[in-house]
Order: sequence, then C-alpha cells, then structure tokens
Amino acid sequence: TLTHELKWDITKLLANPDGQQERYVIGINNKWPLPLLTINKGDRMIIHVSNQLSDPTSIHFHGIFQNGSSFMDGASMISQCPIQPSKNFTYDFVVDQAGTFWYHSHSAAQYGDGLRGILVVEDPDDKEFYDENLVISLSDWYHKDTTELVETMIETGHEPTIQSGLFNEQSVMDINIKLDMTYYLRIVNVGMSATQYFYIEGHSLIIIEVDGVRVEPTEVEALDIGTGQRYGVLLKTKSSAIENFPIVQVTNIMMNRKTSINWLIYDESMGKSKDFKPKSIHDLVFVDELKLKPLGDNGLLELPTHQILLEYDFEEFENGIKYYSFNQTPFIPPKVPTLNTINYGLTSNKSDLSNPRIYGTNTNAIILKTDDIVEIILNSNDHMNHPFHLHGHNFQVLSREAKEHYSFEKDYDISSNPLIRDTIMVPGRGFVQIRFKANNPGVWFFHCHTEWHAVQGLGLVFIESPLEIFKETELPVQNIEVCEVDGITYTMG
Ligand code: C2O
Repeated sequence: TLTHELKWDITKLLANPDGQQERYVIGINNKWPLPLLTINKGDRMIIHVSNQLSDPTSIHFHGIFQNGSSFMDGASMISQCPIQPSKNFTYDFVVDQAGTFWYHSHSAAQYGDGLRGILVVEDPDDKEFYDENLVISLSDWYHKDTTELVETMIETGHEPTIQSGLFNEQSVMDINIKLDMTYYLRIVNVGMSATQYFYIEGHSLIIIEVDGVRVEPTEVEALDIGTGQRYGVLLKTKSSAIENFPIVQVTNIMMNRKTSINWLIYDESMGKSKDFKPKSIHDLVFVDELKLKPLGDNGLLELPTHQILLEYDFEEFENGIKYYSFNQTPFIPPKVPTLNTINYGLTSNKSDLSNPRIYGTNTNAIILKTDDIVEIILNSNDHMNHPFHLHGHNFQVLSREAKEHYSFEKDYDISSNPLIRDTIMVPGRGFVQIRFKANNPGVWFFHCHTEWHAVQGLGLVFIESPLEIFKETELPVQNIEVCEVDGITYTMG
C-alpha cells in the first residue's frame, strides 16, 4: 500500500466552463477543474488543506466510510469545524474500499462553485477485466456563485435555475477511444440538483458497480444518475468503426431540460454526423436499479432492532421562510460540531452521551447502538424527487414506491440480495425503505444531496456508538472543543 501526500491550497480563480459566462470558481493550487485522484484499495491519503478563500471550507470524501476516522469525514459543523480563511487542516485516512467516489466541499453549498473532483479507487485484483479507466463527471451549472444563489433561494423559496449542463466540467467534449478495448467507464453526478440522463449511441453499457459496490454485470441502454450517485460500467468498443458516436447527456430538473451532445471518437478523420437527433428520454430504457444484485450475495440483513420512521416536508416556518424538515424539524447546524460535543462529553464526563438533546434541538440527532440493525423508512410529502445520502455507510434498499407512504406494518416483496448503495433517489410523494448495520462508530450526516435542500434543512445526524468513537484514535489537535464561527469563538461547557 502507498501513502499519497498532497498539499492543497484552496483558491479562487476565473473560468468559463460552459462558454457562456466567465465567473469565479474554487480551485486547488490555482487550477480548475480539480485533479482526478486514482489510488489503490488500502492506500492512505494525507491531504494538507490550506484555505485561501474568504469563506470557510472543508472537504468530504463521498462514499468513503472513514472507519475509525469519523473526524476526517469533512462535514462542517458535524464532524469538524469548518476550516476558516487562512487556516489549515490535514485530512489523513486509509481507504479500504474500491470503486468510484468523489470529493467535494462540505461547507454550505460551496461545491456548486466547483470545489469537487473524482476519486477512483482501484482493486489490483480487478485489473484483468478491463484495459483502462475512463472517467466522466456530469453536473448542472450556474452563472452566479452559491452564496448569492442561496440568499435568493431563502428569500424567494425557489431553488436556483440551472444555466447549463457540464461534462467533465466543460460544455461539450470529445472522448478519444481505441478499437477493441474494454473501458471501465466511471460516471459521477457531481451536480447540485439536476438528475443526469446518459447514453451512448450504438453502444450498450454493462453496469458492474453502483456507488462503490460491485454488482452482477447488467446490460442497459441508458442511465439516470442523481446528484452524488455513481455508476461503473464496462464500455466495450467496436473492432471496426466507420463513424464516431454521440454521447448524450440530458441535465434535467422537472421541466427544465438541457441536452448536450459529446462524442466518442474512434478516429478524428471520420468527423461527427451533423444530423444526429438524440432520442427522447421517454424512449430510452433506463436501468432498473432495484434489480441490480451486489456480487457475492451477502444476503438481506437481519430484522431491524431499530426502526426509524421519517417524513419530510417543505413548508413555511416562522417569518415566511420555507424550510425542509424531517418529522417537523428542519436541520440547523449546531454551534459546535456534533463530534466535538462527544469528545467534550467524554473528556469532561459532563454529558450523558446517550441523550439526543445534548446534541442540540435542531440537529435531529438519532443515537444508534453498536451493531443495531437500523431500518429507515423515508416518506416524502414533497412533490420533487430527492437523492438521499448517508455518510459512513452504504445501505440495502429494500423497497421503493412512487405513489404511497410506507409504515412498518406493510409487507413488500423484499429481495434476498437487495441493491446496496450510498445515495438513493426517493420519488416525489413516495417512499424508500433502507437497512444498514451500525458497525462504524462515528457521527454521520444523512441528507438530501440536492445541495440546496440540505442548506434548507433536509438532513439529520446519526450518532453511532458515541462511547467508541475515540477509543482508538485521538481527535486532531486543531479540532478540540472550540470552533470559531464568523469571528465568534464557541466553547463547550
Ligand atoms: Cu456528497 Cu454529505 O455529501
């Protein structure tokens, strides 16, 4: 195994990714788009982050479990104090998973300003079934910066309108490929809100990985990918080609739809057909994700020992401002990160760490006991689709319906080897039923990955085995007990 030690200065620079408007983006070491990180399973990452912005920041590695290193999870005000301007923080953790992941700012809605990149973790044992990696990020894009967009959204109650779709952080792109190859194509939706529809003319996609989980190879025509989600697919190229092929990307939020045509280039001299018309998304056959089977059938988790029924709404609270809420309570970040609260409680013996109230009244804190089998029912009272992401874990997806609510009494037909992923789309006014085992002590955010909604309160915090979190490791020195927020220092106790 290797150690990858990196020095990242987080900086602002100008860019014009969609060719329509130049604006500030957030880069690393004065460059943007951000570096693709490719490592092997088992490797250690050490990243020295220096914040040279005028706003706080933090970096989350989406999908990485951070087993034994919850305080490296990068969630501002949950697992760490945000890194203040001109301050530093070092992320240091071991990656014991393989697959397709990504990293992004986890402070406010900041990753929408471009602070996001891809992390590919290879398993050397898998190398025989593909020749090369091919990485594609898809996202929505906005011409204003997220601070301004969030302000307007809070004032008006309307989510920002997208200006364009990006493909590898630019408007359109050619992908050069060779004949007779098997590519491990890794597709990540790094956007803020829009679902991405994706297909390649004349080529099928063989799904082998979902959010870092290997699945039985399944051939599909098209993918729909929610924000935060990833698919790993095998793309077999032709053994002879007389034309190049369009790669179709549709960036979609409700009725707002942008189609972009990128190209799979076998040979530049063959050019690009001028009269190609993409299929309508209604004519495509998309992946039926609940049918994807994780490899090496681990079976359905046992019956739950902890059932959690959640209902979420979008509604007006006091002063006319609309918030998202779980069981009537919107998530409002605490003044001291939840993880620091635990550290303080342990070192001072002052708090009862099994009492959700000590974690604040607006964090929707839920305490999980070691090895609990946790089952969550998420019922939606909102008309939009919401992609929900759990930090520190992935989960089995037992059932999902678009048109009704679920209660623990109902009996759905549950697969014995259900889909496992870390981000799941919950249909508007429908529900999803998920299950996981509490085997990773830590503080884990669970939230809608439509980042605008997370900012508006659609999140909660799991406090998993609080007494075990610091057993083997110590909290990094720079993170103890105190957070400085907007120039005010908050101290525990
Ligand atoms: Cu992709 Cu809470 O994060």
